[in-house]
Amino acid sequence: MTLRTLGSLGDLAGTRVFVRVDMNVPLYAGEVADDSRIRASLPTIEELLGRGAKLVLASHLGRPKGEVQEDLRLAPVGRTLEALLDRSVTNLEVVTPEELPDDDIVMLENLRFAPGEEANDVGFAGALGEYADVYVDDAFGAAHRAHASVSALPELVLATGRPAVAGRLLEREVEVLGRLLADPARPFVAILGGAKISDKLAVIESLAQRVDALLIGGAMAFTLLAAEGGRVGASLVEPDRLDDVRDAVAAARARGVAVQLPGDVVAAPAIDAGAPTQVVPADAIPDGLMGLDIGPATVDAFTEVIAGARSILWNGPMGVFELEPFSAGTRGVARACADADAFTVVGGGDSLAAVAKEGLADRFDHLSTGGGASLEFLEGRTLPGITILEDPTT
Ligand code: 3PG
Repeated sequence: MTLRTLGSLGDLAGTRVFVRVDMNVPLYAGEVADDSRIRASLPTIEELLGRGAKLVLASHLGRPKGEVQEDLRLAPVGRTLEALLDRSVTNLEVVTPEELPDDDIVMLENLRFAPGEEANDVGFAGALGEYADVYVDDAFGAAHRAHASVSALPELVLATGRPAVAGRLLEREVEVLGRLLADPARPFVAILGGAKISDKLAVIESLAQRVDALLIGGAMAFTLLAAEGGRVGASLVEPDRLDDVRDAVAAARARGVAVQLPGDVVAAPAIDAGAPTQVVPADAIPDGLMGLDIGPATVDAFTEVIAGARSILWNGPMGVFELEPFSAGTRGVARACADADAFTVVGGGDSLAAVAKEGLADRFDHLSTGGGASLEFLEGRTLPGITILEDPTT
């Protein structure tokens, strides 16, 4: 799939470019707690400014459901962007102002304060379209949402003869993840973790057709272990998914994929940093204990597979890594990926946070900014924010 990109745009001097970004970042005490997603769109913003464009930036933040929510205003994001660019950013307090200031960088208020955004409302898209001589979508994290700024707006822009293209971040995400699915260097190893297997079942089914090995950790492994007859104590299990996960793993193995589950886990009676821990076999966890991290033998086993990989995709932590006693598995996997002589891609907020915390971010080839969007892309689904930007001539 080829997208129309910034390269296809002509002279932009004085042109007003509407840029849909995903600056849905965590806030703490009214300030941006992690600016990774803001930084990720800097190449697009800087390129457009360098080409003389005037920018109208638009993002969602949180889920205010069509109403103004004071703690979800975009002002802190604008301040952070201002500091990163070392240029002034005009933060508006409304989503669709009647008069747009003629400043170089204007940021609209949180798109989701307007009910028309999530409703993919054509009228709302029309109002946004007033600010767009050109439309650029750099919001990979929102590409799976058929919302007005992602779907109806580019449709309308294109229908009225104006350009709608992907920004550099979206372009790279699609290129990297697309290549990983279509033509990975082998062996291709995927590492999946996180709490709920129901969120990842479709990804497992999709990856099973592409990877050579699948390493599964995190709480989601317990539903699988239980499905295979293991005793998982008080670990998190999704009982209504046992048959589905058993079938998915059986199908993957039948295709020759080496599916590896944890052999040992760090268990404790509660999700509490002060709780006593013990390392136990993953399929024989004593009653009353829950598995909260993969154990040291599993870290070694996973590390061996990872070390032999040429392509690696990692999404989801191996345990409750925010708590130190249950963080060694995720840290071990992060280090193994960083050390591997492979093309390495990590996605999902928690895994990204773990990589950043370990100071390993620059040792990965690609840090994917999409949470749900990455997963849907990897499932092989059609993402509305991407489809609309495809170049029909390629
Ligand atoms: C994300 O954080 O995954 C994106 O910004 C999309 O947010 P949403 O799940 O609230 O649509």
